[in-house]
Amino acid sequence: MSRPYLVAGNWKMNGTLEGNTRLLQGILVGLERCPDVEILVCPPAVYLESTGASLKRSRAVLGAQNLCEQDKPGAFTGEIHGHMLKELGCRYVIVGHSERRTLYGETDDIVARKFRAAQICGLTPIFCVGETLQEREMHQTESVLGRQLGAVLKLCGIHSLAQAVLAYEPVWAIGTGRTATPEQAQKAHAFLRAQVAARDARIAAALRVLYGGSVKMDNASALFSQPDVDGGLIGGASLKADEFLGICGAAQAQMKAV
Ligand code: PGA
Repeated sequence: MSRPYLVAGNWKMNGTLEGNTRLLQGILVGLERCPDVEILVCPPAVYLESTGASLKRSRAVLGAQNLCEQDKPGAFTGEIHGHMLKELGCRYVIVGHSERRTLYGETDDIVARKFRAAQICGLTPIFCVGETLQEREMHQTESVLGRQLGAVLKLCGIHSLAQAVLAYEPVWAIGTGRTATPEQAQKAHAFLRAQVAARDARIAAALRVLYGGSVKMDNASALFSQPDVDGGLIGGASLKADEFLGICGAAQAQMKAV
């Protein structure tokens, strides 16, 4: 089954109104070179509206980096409900990013609730899983991935993955310049897909699994050429138009190759 590549830029807590305009202009002029790749931009929440306006007549889509796990809007100071993100034109939202798990105390349970909250609002969650270096060295990668995935499966069921994207993001590769080798990425992606396939083979075959962690123009082709890597979640390199477009181009070239 062919799965269209998705390249998602996670800007994290970076940007200014002026800088974003320049970055988006740079990205938009190059998009025609990768017509078959789905391109997603996830700016900080305060820039969603202006970014959405810049993307309006383009193919690129808008996503958020986080949402509140609560079912209903209300007295939750500082939080953002999925309906609000939807109203601003978001299609996707990242949940379970390791920075949220480690720096902001998001447990597997909170992540699962965020996943559910996103889907209730019609947003597609980009559900991130990944092991730390210590866990990898202790040969716990698969048990960690299984546990993180299991929390969402328990709360939302296997069918929820028909409307979701999975992202394998080894914590030791995020923002470190240290990338998983294509073989390491493929092994983890194949494991995740097999976990899903054991419950529903059709959902597993259609599920896009992105790789994230120091993806750059130079290493994107090798990662994207792996059979179970369906695109990337890009942090640092999504802040430079040329780099980001180079990564999108690597995905496009891969589509031609199949
Ligand atoms: P990085 O971040 O590309 O800067 O490593 C990836 C991510 O955190 O999604």
